[in-house]
Amino acid sequence: MREAAPAQRVFISGVAGFLGSHLADAFLADGLEVVGVDNLVGGYLDNVPAGVSFHRADCNDFARMRALMQGVDVVYHCAATAYEGLSVFSPHFVTQNVVTATSGMVSAAIASRARRFVFCSSMARYGENEVPFSEDLAPRPQDPYGIGKLAAELLVRNLAETHGVEWVVAVPHNIIGPRQKYDDPYRNVAAIFVNSLLQGRRLSIYGDGSQRRCFSFVSDVVAPLRQMATSPACAGQVINVGPDDEFVSVLELAQLVARLMDVELRCDFLPPRPREVPFANCSAAKARALLGYEPRVSLEEGLRQMIDWIRARGPRPFLHHVDLEIVSDATPRTWSTPEP
Ligand SMILES: NC(=O)c1ccc[n+]([C@@H]2O[C@H](COP(=O)([O-])OP(=O)(O)OC[C@H]3O[C@@H](n4cnc5c(N)ncnc54)[C@H](O)[C@@H]3O)[C@@H](O)[C@H]2O)c1
Repeated sequence: MREAAPAQRVFISGVAGFLGSHLADAFLADGLEVVGVDNLVGGYLDNVPAGVSFHRADCNDFARMRALMQGVDVVYHCAATAYEGLSVFSPHFVTQNVVTATSGMVSAAIASRARRFVFCSSMARYGENEVPFSEDLAPRPQDPYGIGKLAAELLVRNLAETHGVEWVVAVPHNIIGPRQKYDDPYRNVAAIFVNSLLQGRRLSIYGDGSQRRCFSFVSDVVAPLRQMATSPACAGQVINVGPDDEFVSVLELAQLVARLMDVELRCDFLPPRPREVPFANCSAAKARALLGYEPRVSLEEGLRQMIDWIRARGPRPFLHHVDLEIVSDATPRTWSTPEP
């Protein structure tokens, strides 16, 4: 496989977030210059690695993004309000930060003559489909978040191809590890379980817990993602990034987390969340072929590392920081009535 010249200056949106901050670490370790932005709607400020040229800024601020991208070789757009379940109740908020923000980011990258744009999409693009999801399936997103990610992909591809910029769409799924936001009640099921159990709380499970997912440890996502900066084989491709084994149910995940934390598991089974897809996992065949993708950290080991990190920081109350635009009978009570 032909290797392209290394990227010199990398721009990362969402650099205070989970994935963006780990990706920044990897590029800094390679000696590259990293410019990063985040508006701190999510993430943690102390996630931003020392050495990143950090700007607290919104991806929807087009003029600022274009100015900050001057001289940048590759743009990774990791920022998003990645709230799949919540997107049914706050679709405007989610769409602004998934679709509109991406149209601005890819336009700014093109205008500032970046060579390549790497977009972090989501498995939600596939929706209710045959598992494991392969990249050539016709997408059938089931909620505004998945619809938004797919629309954003189409914008990236359309604009990049029109203006001669290379593009890559990475499709990660259910990442776990240190630095993940764990005081956010709307997403990151494993981190929510850990934070709840540390507070001696019962776990809330939507439905009967039989919905199944695969989880990736963050370093196993960063490794293929960083190759997407330069790999010629990745240009113009949609690539799943995540394991296709250790497919576990949410209830099994809860049992495993409780066992690793050595605490008693007590659960409340709540009504299913609207539009939640029962089975979702991706085929990793394309990532294996193009990037030599090979996950190294098991689910159990990944959870251990995340538990240790959350324990060291201490449990935190859940922050209900997003306004619900639509409150209906379908709104989970865990979101409409914050816990005491
Ligand atoms: N973590 C996962 O399991 C997972 C799975 C599939 C896809 N993804 C995608 O990967 C990307 C990174 O996810 P993550 O888990 O690191 O999420 P994260 O919430 O930890 O990080 C995202 C960061 O983006 C920032 N942000 C959001 N909107 C912004 C805006 N308009 N301007 C500037 N900053 C903004 C947030 O403050 C946050 O720090 C997202 O695009 C997400 O959709 C993540």
